[in-house]
Amino acid sequence: MTLGDVLPSLRSSLPPRGVDRELWPLTTAHGRAGLSVGGVPLVEIEQEYGTPAYVLDEADVRERCTAYAAAFGPAQVYYAAKALLSRGLLRWIDEAGLGLAVYSTGQWRLALAAGFPPERIVVHGDVDARGAGRVVIESAADIARLTCTRRPLRQRVMLRLLPAQLGFTAPGLPACPSEDRFGVPTAGAELAALVDEITSSPLLELAGLDVYLGSQLAQFGGYEHAITQLIAACAELRRTHGVRIEEINLGGGFAVAHPGQDSTLPVDPFAARMRRVLSLACDRAGVPRPRLSVTPGRAVVARAGVALYRVLAVRHEPGHQLVAVDGGLSDNPRPALYGARYTAVLVGRPSHADTVPTTVVGRHDETGDVLVRDEPLPGDLRPGDLLAVPGCGAYHFPLASNYDLVGRPPLIAVREGRARLLVRRETLDDILRRDAA
Ligand SMILES: Cc1ncc(COP(=O)(O)O)c(C=O)c1O
Repeated sequence: MTLGDVLPSLRSSLPPRGVDRELWPLTTAHGRAGLSVGGVPLVEIEQEYGTPAYVLDEADVRERCTAYAAAFGPAQVYYAAKALLSRGLLRWIDEAGLGLAVYSTGQWRLALAAGFPPERIVVHGDVDARGAGRVVIESAADIARLTCTRRPLRQRVMLRLLPAQLGFTAPGLPACPSEDRFGVPTAGAELAALVDEITSSPLLELAGLDVYLGSQLAQFGGYEHAITQLIAACAELRRTHGVRIEEINLGGGFAVAHPGQDSTLPVDPFAARMRRVLSLACDRAGVPRPRLSVTPGRAVVARAGVALYRVLAVRHEPGHQLVAVDGGLSDNPRPALYGARYTAVLVGRPSHADTVPTTVVGRHDETGDVLVRDEPLPGDLRPGDLLAVPGCGAYHFPLASNYDLVGRPPLIAVREGRARLLVRRETLDDILRRDAA
């Protein structure tokens, strides 16, 4: 029995069962109209925009941008666009003074359309991006692409290195082995040859070294190891090529909380520790200290997002409940891709039923289309109920698909009691128009 059961007047001010503060957006609250984010009751968002829908807490994103900017300096944080991107979000990132990392021409074009300063953008991959602040080079082919064009421009570049022990990752997430990635070992002939090419080109300027160590990393160890190897590379390049490396970028992958799995990597202690390791490594190697930069994606937006679903069907079994909702694999492929775990909360009506382990499956009638597995939810769920799933701000909207010809959900920002559409729902007309013959 909870306090709310004893004193019904308290019910409206208590968070509902299952609301774990670490998983929900910072402005999550519970009032007369039920669970709200950004001062907007989730039921009202459902009434206006339908389901499935992604809700994004603007204050939460801004707060995390501020925290990363304070820990590393705003210019030393490149928000990783692949985690989530929209013009509205780009303005928040810009206003926080952060940089941006883009991985496609689409992301580059959207950033320019939002008025994001190109000189604060780091470009990864084969992107048509003239005027970018930095371009990351992973192989000789990238150098050729930048220099053998009809109208070449002078370009600052960062070299992607692959430290040994790459592929640190959280339990349950697949490590990406270094043999599956492009980049250059931190020492040896390949590194020397690429640096030769860069330093001998009048068009290129070596601005720094870059690594990306994996996903959902909650331990400092992998990053410390990477710093040591990067500084050894700086010392070697100083000796062999006389270059001074001004910046090292420690990729992204900083963990965010998932139910029963990981907790969030704390940004301040991380920054302080990395700076100490950097100073020590530089002192030992006798090289000037480069600037330390980071490229967080999920750590900035994951927790700000909540996905809303409508319950379509319920099967009550002894000691268990199976629930089907109107979304799934097409708007959250992460459980199927990585075994990521989620929880859900009933919103829109009170329930005093005991909780039972509940599995929430998607609409796609597919192995692996499981959004929530065996999480406690009230045992009286029924069709028409509204479920809210926290932790859906990163790699949900960008990974959404049209599987089964389902339109992708809208992205809705909430702030100070107002909801605002950032990206509209994809309509069936949008989808059917692409079918050309
Ligand atoms: C090169 C690079 N940098 C940064 C990131 C961001 O990682 P995360 O969203 O885990 O912080 C990624 C994600 O795949 C990446 O590939």
